[in-house]
Amino acid sequence: MIRAWSKKNVLNFMRDRLSDYTFVVVSNRQPYIHKMFRGKIECTRGPGGVVTALDPIMRELRGLWVCCGSGEADRLVAKNSKVRVPSNDPSYEVKYIWLNKEENIGYYYGYSNQGLWPLSHLVFMKPSFSNEHWKVYKQVNKKFAQSIYNEIKGKKAIVFVQDYHLALVSKYLKEMLPQVTTLLFWHIPWPTYDVFRILPQRQELLAGLLSYDTLGFQIRYFCNNFFDAVANEMEAKINKEHQSVHYKGHETFVRGYPISVDFEGINSVSGEEQVKTLASSLKEEFGLQDKKIIIGLDRIDYTKGIIERIKAVDKLLDMHPELKEKVVFVQMGEISRIHLSQYKHLNESVNTLVEEVNFKHSRKYWKPIIFLRRHLDFKEVLAFYKIADVCVVSSLHDGMNLVAKEFISVKSEKEGVLVLSKFTGASRELKNALLINPYHIEETSNVIFKALNMPEAERKKYRKQLQQLVHRNDIWKWIGKIASGIVQEE
Ligand code: F6P
Repeated sequence: MIRAWSKKNVLNFMRDRLSDYTFVVVSNRQPYIHKMFRGKIECTRGPGGVVTALDPIMRELRGLWVCCGSGEADRLVAKNSKVRVPSNDPSYEVKYIWLNKEENIGYYYGYSNQGLWPLSHLVFMKPSFSNEHWKVYKQVNKKFAQSIYNEIKGKKAIVFVQDYHLALVSKYLKEMLPQVTTLLFWHIPWPTYDVFRILPQRQELLAGLLSYDTLGFQIRYFCNNFFDAVANEMEAKINKEHQSVHYKGHETFVRGYPISVDFEGINSVSGEEQVKTLASSLKEEFGLQDKKIIIGLDRIDYTKGIIERIKAVDKLLDMHPELKEKVVFVQMGEISRIHLSQYKHLNESVNTLVEEVNFKHSRKYWKPIIFLRRHLDFKEVLAFYKIADVCVVSSLHDGMNLVAKEFISVKSEKEGVLVLSKFTGASRELKNALLINPYHIEETSNVIFKALNMPEAERKKYRKQLQQLVHRNDIWKWIGKIASGIVQEE
C-alpha cells in the first residue's frame, strides 16, 4: 500500500521543506525522567499522551524538546540544563526548565490542574481559580519563552508548544522574536462556551492563544467551541472559510488534527521476541495463563472513569458468577498530581474499591482485580496489550485517548477487543470498537461480557478494520498535516 502520509514521505517532506528551521517542541511534562534506582540512574519514558505521540517524531527529527525537569536525577545528568535522550539510544536533546516549589504550586498544581484541567473536562469536578495562581502561571510561561528565546535567537525556528499549561508562551516569545513561527496543540477537550465563560481570566487567556500562528485541537467540535469562545469574548474577526481568527492584525489558523500513535513502530516492536518473552513472564508472574484477561491502563485521574470501570467489573461478576476464577482484570495506573486533594482522594477510593471487590468475589487462589501501581516500561505495556482479551477505556471525557489506539496497534495474541467510551475523541474514529457510556455501569458490564464472548472470526474482523483505521491515521499523518499547514501558511 502506498500511503501519501507514510512515515517516509512525511519525514522527507519535513526534511526537505523545513530544513532551514530549528524544530523545538515545548511541553510541561518531560519525555524522559531520570531517577535513582538501587544507586543507579534510570531513564524512563514519561506518562501521558503528549509523550506517546511526540517521542517517535522527535526521535526521527532530532530537534530540541524544552520541558520541566522533575526527576531527582535530571540535574545530575544535565549539562547546562541539557541532556540527550533516551540514554540507551540518544536521539534528541532535552532542555530542562527548573521550577521552584512556589512555581510548581501556582502554575502546575494550581492554574493548570485545579483550573484549566477540570474546566476543560466535563466530569462534574469544580475548577478553582486564583489570581495568585494566574500570576505564577504567567510568570512560568514567560520563563519558558525566555529559555526558548535563548536557544533560537538568530535562527529560523518552529516552536511547537503542547497543551494547556503553556497558553501564553507564544505571546511572550513573539514580544522578543516577532517573526518566529509558533503552534500550540491543545491535547485536551475545549469546553463549550457555557462552561468556558466561568473562567475569570478568559480574555487574557484567549489573547495569549491568539498570538499563536496555528492552534490545533483534537476534533472539529473543539475548534467550534473555541470559535464560540472567541466570538463571545473578543473583538476579533472569525473567518470560517479559512478557519482562522484575525485579532489585532494577526491571523491564527484553527485546525482539527486528531492525534495518533506510531502504528507501524508499535506493531513491529510488539512482535519482537523480547515482548513475547515478557508476555509469557507476565502471565506466569500474575497467574494469568489460563485466564481471560481484561486490562485498563491510565494515569490515575478522575477523568479516566477508573472507579466506574471497577464497578462494571464488580457488576459483571454479580451477573455472571460463572466467570469467577476464569477472568482477571488488570488495572495499570501511573500516579500523577498526587499533591492535589482530588487525586489523593481518588487514589484512596480506587484502593478501597479494589479491596472491596476483591474481598467480595475472591476464591481461595483467585482474586478478580490486580491493581499494578509500579512503573511499567513501554515493552511491558505492549506485552500486556498483547495478552489482553479485552481492553477497557472508560474515560468520562477525553480529548483523544491514545491507550485505545496503542492497544489496537499491537500484534495481539488473542485478537483483543476494545471497549471504548463514547466520550473520547478516539470514539469518533474507532467506530468499530464496542462503545460504552461509562456512567452506565450495567451497560459497561454487559458490553465487557459481550467482548469476552465475541467469536474469534468477529474479533478478527473488527480488529482488522480498526487496525486499518489507526494505520491510515497514524502519528505521521498528524505531524505531516501540521507541517504542510505551516508550509502553506508561510
Ligand atoms: O495529555 C494530557 C496531559 O495533561 C499532558 O499534557 C500530560 O503530559 C499528561 O496528560 C500527563 O499529565 P501530568 O504531566 O500532569 O502527569
